[in-house]
Amino acid sequence: MTVTISNNSFTTTLQDLIKYPSSGILSKVLLKDNNSQYSLFCLAKNTEIEEHTSTRNAVITVIEGKGNLELEEKDIALAPGVFVFMPANAPHALQARENLAFTLALSEHLPVKKKVSQKTIDIVKSTAPVIKQHGQTITSRMYEIMFASHPEVKSQFDMSAQANGTQPAKLATAVYAYAIHIDDLGALKEAVNKIAHRHVATHVLPEQYPIVGECLLQAIKDVLGDAATDDVMTAWTEAYQALAEIFINREQEIYQTI
Ligand code: HEM
Repeated sequence: MTVTISNNSFTTTLQDLIKYPSSGILSKVLLKDNNSQYSLFCLAKNTEIEEHTSTRNAVITVIEGKGNLELEEKDIALAPGVFVFMPANAPHALQARENLAFTLALSEHLPVKKKVSQKTIDIVKSTAPVIKQHGQTITSRMYEIMFASHPEVKSQFDMSAQANGTQPAKLATAVYAYAIHIDDLGALKEAVNKIAHRHVATHVLPEQYPIVGECLLQAIKDVLGDAATDDVMTAWTEAYQALAEIFINREQEIYQTI
């Protein structure tokens, strides 16, 4: 019986579950959820699994028996205790030289970074001139919307920098720089680093990014009016999410060092 992963712990004795078929493979899913699956594989002597790939990362841990794993064109001898990590999409094939039992752990291979589409890049870049022209009006409007709808964030900000316009100006500069360099993010590295340190100093958290995103997008709509077409809004929604991810990742690294 397969157990769905929950908050409850789970334990079993693998030796008791090993059962070899007279030929071929007997596999049993021990535990699974949406992101991972743990199975026991029992292969009869001389069973072969032809070359294939998996979209998930996989780990084989051999319990008993002998065999050969061909992984990315290299042979790995399988014997009790051997642990092999197979990255997603790596071609592999397997032969059991004796009755062979191993566990297979599959885990979701999540993309490290969301890539923005070429269409989004083109649209965002095409809006750079209007973002430059109306940048500070947009960011001032954004803060106005955010402080009205989420007054709890006010305490993180220096309100004098709001009143004299320096913070809206800094945000406008950052948004414009992103619009120009959306396809050359290396150029933003230093700026991202500086902003991320300021964010960590002011305790910005990942869950606050959707709030800023929603308010910024609303402000773009309010200020650009008819020029904020559906295509423009869709592109900026995708672009903002990608930028938010960059900040969240960098800030996570900084939080871990303090
Ligand atoms: C992609 C989204 C964001 C961009 C482009 C951005 C940009 C910036 C920039 C350019 C600065 C000025 C940094 C400096 O002084 O050198 C800043 C500061 C700051 N940001 Fe963000 N930010 C973003 C998201 C957020 C979020 C989600 C929050 C959470 C509420 C936040 C809160 C702050 C705070 C509290 C400061 C310091 C402001 C002050 O000193 O008064 N930002 N941000």
